[in-house]
Order: sequence, then structure tokens, then C-alpha cells
Amino acid sequence: MIGKIKDLSRKDKKAFVIGEPIDHSLSPALHGFWLRQLGIDGSYEGFSVPADYLARTIYKLRDDGYAGGNVTIPHKEKVMLLCDEVSERAQKIGAVNTLVFDGDKILGDNTDAEGFAAGLGGFKPKKAMVLGAGGAARAVIVALQELGAEVYVSNRTAEKAEKLAQEFSCKTIAWENKDELSESDFLVNTTSLGMESQPELDIDIKSLPDGSVVYDLVYNPIETDLLKQAHSLGLKNISGLWMLIHQAAPGFEKWFGEKPETTQDIYDHLILELNKRGWKQA
Ligand code: ATR
Repeated sequence: MIGKIKDLSRKDKKAFVIGEPIDHSLSPALHGFWLRQLGIDGSYEGFSVPADYLARTIYKLRDDGYAGGNVTIPHKEKVMLLCDEVSERAQKIGAVNTLVFDGDKILGDNTDAEGFAAGLGGFKPKKAMVLGAGGAARAVIVALQELGAEVYVSNRTAEKAEKLAQEFSCKTIAWENKDELSESDFLVNTTSLGMESQPELDIDIKSLPDGSVVYDLVYNPIETDLLKQAHSLGLKNISGLWMLIHQAAPGFEKWFGEKPETTQDIYDHLILELNKRGWKQA
């Protein structure tokens, strides 16, 4: 019997997130809410995929009519090799978090920088202090520089900060001096410090001038010590949940054809979801 030829031009309203592990991912809850809110008969599923199965899983999902999906830790860099095209943004950041299947073509993009920037809600930092020099810091630096900010990077491992500074033409601050913030109007934590079961981020932010903004990419616990400090100093503080919401929206629109709402409703839904999972409030 002759096998059925796959019609790769047919794309269903189905998308995915792949990573390892994937159980903790909030993306299925996020996209599921938007699908229900917009009355779209579609699906968004999480798949735990070991590195050795990445290529065959992606080709299978494409051939099964998925419209595309998200890629998360630890596959964001490796997946670039499987893409037929990688956007300029993703190349600059050095990672892909969003895939779109266009016929048999695999298109890779990175929406973290725009997600981070959208979370700022119109605030344009002039002088920004970035804590951390990992993958998340790269997207944050790209976004801040596009907004015209002068960027300073501080990282426990100084060589990594120096390397980033060279690549992105920004400056570095020694990790011991990260709380000298009187010249900054913006501070962002891109490290894992402050996350549940990780050490606290040991920083005193009282030298930040009035009107400064503090952003913590960590959202487990929901209100980190850093955000609490900012709150008690009367500074605007932004949870990493907003970046998560905003980085998800462009993919949703590409796969399902409608722009989702990035309002307080979805934020509150995620808080409910986190509570269900027993995540700490603070
Ligand atoms: P991501 O892709 O989320 O940015 P990553 O690339 O592993 O993750 O980067 C983790 C960041 O958290 C790094 O900046 C790391 O600092 P080092 O480069 O010195 O490792 C930072 N980090 C993690 N644990 C830390 C700790 N205990 N103290 C200080 N920084 C820490």
C-alpha cells in the first residue's frame, strides 16, 4: 500500500511548548486561558523532550500539522540549528523561544526582548542596571538598548559580564558594588537569585532615586524580596509574570490568528494557577 503523502500546507490550530522538565511551565495555562477567552477551538500542549529527541520531535510536530510552538530550557539555543530561518532578533539574543511552521519550513524567533519591553508599560529607562549575564540577560539588554538606555551589567562571575559587555557595548559593575545605584533609574534581576529554593538576592536598593523602576524576572515566589523592597520604598515594581505574558502573545497570534489580551485578567488567572500549584505568595 502506498503511504499517504503528508500535506504540510495544512496547519491546525494546535501549538506546543517543549522543554525538559515541562511540568512547571505556565505556558499551557496561559495559552489555554486565551483560547477559551477568544472562543478558539484549538490546543496548546506541553511536551517534555530530552535533548536527543529534540530534532525528531520538532519534525514530527511539524508533520502532524501543528502551527508552531514555544521552546524553553534547555533547548532554546540548540533548536536554532533545526530552523530554516532564524530572525535577526533571535540571532542577536542567541536563542529561539518561538517556532512557526510555514509549510515544511521551520521559522525561529525570539519574543523575550519584546516581552520584557512590553512589561515596562511605557517606562523608558535611561540608565539601567542588569543583574546577571545568562540567557535572560541577553534578551533584556537587547530590549533596553533598543529603548535607548545606557546599560550596566553586574554578574557574580565577572568574566561573563565582561564578555556580554564586549558583545553588546555596555559597561560592567563589580558584583560587590551592585547596590551603588544612585545614578540608575532602573534595576532588573535576571539571575535565579530569590527564586524558590535558591539563595536570596542580597542587595540593598535604597540608593535608587525616586521614580526608579524595579523589575524582577523571578516570579516564584510571586512577590520576591526585591519587589517587596521596591514596594516599601514607593518604587514601581514589575513582576516577571508580565514578561511571561507579553512574550507569549506574539506566538499566540501567529498560530491562532487572533491577538490575545495582555491585561490584568490573564495576570490574575496565572496567580490563581500558581496558588493551585501551591506556589508561595512571597
Ligand atoms: P538564564 O538563561 O535564566 O539567564 P543562566 O544562563 O543559567 O540562566 O544564568 C543564570 C544567572 O544567574 C547567571 O548570571 C548566574 O551567575 P554566574 O554567571 O556567576 O553563574 C546567576 N546566578 C545563579 N546562581 C547565582 C548565585 N548563587 N549567586 C549569584 N549569581 C547567581
